[in-house]
Amino acid sequence: MEYEFCCPTLFGLEGIVGDELRHGGGLTDVRVENGRVFFSGDERTLIWANLWLRCAERVLIRVGEFPAHTFEELFEGVYELPWLDYIEKDCAFPVKGYSLNSDLHSIPDCQSIVKKAIVKSLSESYGINWFEETGARCQVQFSIMNNIATLYLDTSGAGLHKRGYRANANDAPLRETLAAAMVHLSRYRGRGEFLDPFCGSGTIPIEAAMIAMNRAPGLARSFDAEKWAFIDPELWRQGREQALDVMYRNRSYEICGSDIDPTCVKLAAENANKAGVSHTVHFETQDACKLRLNREGTLICNPPYGERMMDIVSARKLLRNFGTVASRSPMKQYIISSDEKFEEFFGVKADKKRKLYNGMLRCNLFMYYQTPDKRKPFRRTANTKNNTKKVQKNRNNHSNKRFEGHS
Ligand SMILES: C[S@@+](CC[C@H](N)C(=O)[O-])C[C@H]1O[C@@H](n2cnc3c(N)ncnc32)[C@H](O)[C@@H]1O
Repeated sequence: MEYEFCCPTLFGLEGIVGDELRHGGGLTDVRVENGRVFFSGDERTLIWANLWLRCAERVLIRVGEFPAHTFEELFEGVYELPWLDYIEKDCAFPVKGYSLNSDLHSIPDCQSIVKKAIVKSLSESYGINWFEETGARCQVQFSIMNNIATLYLDTSGAGLHKRGYRANANDAPLRETLAAAMVHLSRYRGRGEFLDPFCGSGTIPIEAAMIAMNRAPGLARSFDAEKWAFIDPELWRQGREQALDVMYRNRSYEICGSDIDPTCVKLAAENANKAGVSHTVHFETQDACKLRLNREGTLICNPPYGERMMDIVSARKLLRNFGTVASRSPMKQYIISSDEKFEEFFGVKADKKRKLYNGMLRCNLFMYYQTPDKRKPFRRTANTKNNTKKVQKNRNNHSNKRFEGHS
């Protein structure tokens, strides 16, 4: 059967997910929008996307779309969709969703209408009035945007960033999908030295190792659609087997993570073990400002930027000290930060910047790929000190209003 799929993504990662689908999945019918990517394919595509997409949040089947200005239109539109094709008699089918710029804005009411319409449709098909919902989970999602309702089924279950290796994290872990995107942007594919000198729970080196080894990020976890009756379990078995076949098991890599906190280093090593890459990555306790970065290679990190970890004054002091070491290094460097004055404190102007979101936090990925002699120093201005105090004050004022978390 042919399906239309939609992958929600973190803002800024849509194009990368489009690349993953085109180059990794060999798909041609890929459409990239703000925060989501659409594509089509069959059951094998569904399985491949769940097992292999590194930067998408989940894989949804688009069940249908229709205009919905009123609850009656919403009910009728949902009722007409082919639920029998997807939902078995004993399936659990919880409903969640959102509405933007639309006449229907009460989410609980929309949720209840969607559920009632699906129940009515399935009751007529199965000839029963009560659904136990004890079987496989088919999460229904709706979006109502500009009075157009779109209904989806979530094939992934837990978000794809949950690879199954990071039960434990430090105070400010990076989402796995974002870490993988940073590695993708650096073009590191397993050659040369790789270092994250602020590794925390090890997310960036672990994602780098999985990319280097061509290890499917979804290998160590399960997906809701694995229990769906309309997808042959043999296809899942084949998809997993193929993923194991294409993994590079015997190559050696120079991937290292370091952190000043020995607890983080221990945690990172445990996570690498769970991710199946412990033989590929090496972790050690080091102060990033005392590292000798004399060799060429790739450095990717998210140092504290005074948001969820450290205050802005300490974070900028750390950045200045680290910048002194890093700016002289021949390593290509990719550093994510929400600090708008990052370059000023790091001391060097970035060769390129790319806007990325760490949760709801607007950040930049500062990229340095020129040799040190071609890097342009960033001249500090006289009002730096005042500006730092102003930023800290603003952050304190806004700290309770902004969501910075990760799920
Ligand atoms: C934002 S966290 C990194 C999170 C990490 N990317 C992850 O996914 O878990 C920043 C890390 O920098 C570490 N750190 C702070 N000062 C440091 C220093 N001088 N040298 C090395 N690491 C440091 C902290 O211990 C913390 O683990």
